[in-house]
Amino acid sequence: MSSLTIRRPDDWHLHLRDGAMLEGVIGDTSRHFARAIIMPNLVPPVVTSADARAYRERILKAIPAGDRFEPLMTLYLTEHTNPDDVEDGKRSGLITAVKLYPAGATTNSHGGVRDMEKAMPVLERMAKIGLPLCVHGEVTTPEVDIFDREKVFIDTVLDPLRKRLPELKVTMEHVTTEDGIEYIRSAERNLAGSITTHHLIINRNDILVGGIQPHYYCLPVAKRENHRQALRKAAVSGDARFFLGTDSAPHVDPLKECACGCAGIYTSINTMSCLAHVFEQENALDKLEAFASLNGPVWYGLPANEETITLVKRDQPVEFPQKIYTGAGPVTVFDPKFPLHWDVA
Ligand code: DOR
Ligand code: ZN
Repeated sequence: MSSLTIRRPDDWHLHLRDGAMLEGVIGDTSRHFARAIIMPNLVPPVVTSADARAYRERILKAIPAGDRFEPLMTLYLTEHTNPDDVEDGKRSGLITAVKLYPAGATTNSHGGVRDMEKAMPVLERMAKIGLPLCVHGEVTTPEVDIFDREKVFIDTVLDPLRKRLPELKVTMEHVTTEDGIEYIRSAERNLAGSITTHHLIINRNDILVGGIQPHYYCLPVAKRENHRQALRKAAVSGDARFFLGTDSAPHVDPLKECACGCAGIYTSINTMSCLAHVFEQENALDKLEAFASLNGPVWYGLPANEETITLVKRDQPVEFPQKIYTGAGPVTVFDPKFPLHWDVA
């Protein structure tokens, strides 16, 4: 049996939802992770500092007794977001980042941004005060093929924005393409990227071969194998610009297994086991701590966690439930399709 002790990890992109779903999923994160950046795409979304403060209180209440977990709050950028409110949210320590959803790009994004010009006053203020912008980097133009939406976003939205506001710190979230990885690598500063657990493990065949597999469908959608390989290389490289953001996104099974299924994969419960497996496959277990526990805090200007977790490799596979049963309904757990031997002790 081998073991690996690393600083306690953080999740730099997480959907906790609200109400019964929040209560049902939060323990799977707080068991292993010290902090997480909480996505604001609730219904209705977390738009103002007051919304974020109230949501933070609901999250704190739902943390299982004995767990120590800090939710890092974000605001959902709209065309009407008030720059002063954003600045107040940052100055009071409440807000860690602002999230850009191009309108229509994903779950509950219809209130997002259609015309970037209208968001410029907020973005300018963020550049000035050093508040990072987290981006869902996909265009929503109907003519653009869904597998090309990330690259087209980089070329037509992100790169022009970064040229216009070089001081704006941008996190390209859930990077799914070689193009995204290359773009981040080529940037001299103020650009980093999070990578999900599942995009290191699945490619588009997992969604489409042998029948439609709704539990592998998420956005951005998984791409071809060469892209998955590029993501793996970046994740295990130790390059400080790449870090973990699980994008764990629970939906109840009836909303996944239907004629128009929701995007989202639930990985909070087995992410650390999956990652240890991937990093071992890549002969890079020594880089897992950088990816999961060190690079993110550096980027967000926070200290790394002092506590540690220990991963142990067991002879017998670790059994994770196929589903978790929340008060909102059952949620299928990500199946990596290989046995998981790494366990968090
Ligand atoms: O797969 C996804 N699910 N991608 C997103 O961007 C949103 C998320 C969700 O909220 O369900
Ligand atoms: Zn997400």
